[in-house]
Amino acid sequence: MLSTTDERVDEIFNEETTEKNNKMKSFLIIGLFVILLKPDINALDNGLALTPPMGWLTWERFRCNTDCERDPENCISERLIKEMADIMASEGYRDVGYEYVIIDDCWLAQQRDQDGRLLPDPNRFPSGIKNLAEYVHRKGLKFGIYEDSGKKTCGGFPGSEFYMQTDAKTFADWGVDYLKFDGCYSNLNDFQAGYEAMEFFLNRTRKKIVYSCEWPFYKIVGGLSVDFAAVRNTCNLWRNYFDIQDSWSSVIDIINFWGNNSELFSQYAGPGGWNDPDMIILGNFGLSYDEERTHLAMWAMMAAPLIMSNDLRHIRSQSKALLQNRNIISINQDKLGIQAILLRKVNGIQIWSRNLSHNRTALAFVNENSDGMPRYLKVTLDDIKLPPTRSYNFTEAFEMKINFIIAKGHYLEMYVNPHGVQLFIAKRM
Ligand SMILES: *[C@@H]1O[C@H](CO)[C@@H](O)[C@H](O)[C@H]1NC(C)=O
Ligand SMILES: *[C@@H]1O[C@H](CO)[C@@H](O)[C@H](O)[C@H]1NC(C)=O
Ligand SMILES: *[C@@H]1O[C@H](CO)[C@@H](O)[C@H](O)[C@H]1NC(C)=O
Repeated sequence: MLSTTDERVDEIFNEETTEKNNKMKSFLIIGLFVILLKPDINALDNGLALTPPMGWLTWERFRCNTDCERDPENCISERLIKEMADIMASEGYRDVGYEYVIIDDCWLAQQRDQDGRLLPDPNRFPSGIKNLAEYVHRKGLKFGIYEDSGKKTCGGFPGSEFYMQTDAKTFADWGVDYLKFDGCYSNLNDFQAGYEAMEFFLNRTRKKIVYSCEWPFYKIVGGLSVDFAAVRNTCNLWRNYFDIQDSWSSVIDIINFWGNNSELFSQYAGPGGWNDPDMIILGNFGLSYDEERTHLAMWAMMAAPLIMSNDLRHIRSQSKALLQNRNIISINQDKLGIQAILLRKVNGIQIWSRNLSHNRTALAFVNENSDGMPRYLKVTLDDIKLPPTRSYNFTEAFEMKINFIIAKGHYLEMYVNPHGVQLFIAKRM
């Protein structure tokens, strides 16, 4: 989905140049950039999520497993949450930035109490949610929970429709720091009003609670348009597409959907509010090592929330090392919060670019091909939209060890593994 603005920038880059023309170009480019960012895109004013939130969530790995008799180790229960919080604190995840421990669906009892308040399932959460939140807080972590704007949650438990004020107050009383608010059993035309109402009641509690929404996803899938400025004004993060599954086909489908819409989505990402391509699934069953690298690198490029869903008690050391790679995390958490744009595809290799602070640009090259052979790629600075009048210092971004200079008129060459990624940071010299 390249806009006319992009073609225009191409044209400008390709013209013959003089010093004066160069100045004119920067002026024009800055002008175009401002126009691109023109929509009124104020973030939700709760002071949270100034960089993409990081944490752990039950859903992709543990789903709605409520069978604690047969599967006590893996059912949705206070035991599972405590064990994950313990490991996040003791095995380095917290120290690299993973902060929120979040229960998704299926924590609730079937009925509210006699005063209409939510209750957790008494067998699986015998100590109650407030005590569980305190446990997580004592580990130096934050605590998140799930509800739904409709009559029921997706798993069929009591939803927040008609109870939003009560539920916001309950969450604040329990010490909840993050709310994932789903959209099952809700009328498509009520989404905006419903999500805005919950934001209003959360704000009224005076407790700072990260607000994670699914409103754009249900509208897009329902074939309706989305007011992204209103979404950004209401939510700290928002889902735009289908749930991630434990497979490469799901990961690349999400990357492709983002690629098709990167010019649109990136306009609304920035400190305080983020497009959410769903959880990080490194360490599970479905991805090869190269696919895990691509998944993580692209979530970093997309300024995506880094919310893992995996079993931290049983995880390959390679996956753990990737999840704790500070170089990749620092791209994701760059303070400017600019989301990557898909520049082009060459021979099935996607080229993505994301501007970072300190005159740096992150570049990702993703090989979609499945033919089993690393692909050769050769690009000019022009091809990757780095103003070609300058030289750049390139660093391979996973290890930050390989370093080289590409001067004006020279090429960047590489091999990219099937389903793999090459990731660089280019610094203007
Ligand atoms: C509530 O909203 C006001 C106005 O936007 C904002 O200044 C304040 O920080 C918000 N409080 C919380 C707890 O989100
Ligand atoms: C992206 O766009 C192409 C071309 O319009 C389309 O064929 C493809 O299905 C789209 N992919 C996704 C995941 O939206
Ligand atoms: C990066 O910043 C430069 C200079 O402002 C701009 O021309 C370019 O379009 C930006 N690239 C991306 C991918 O946003």
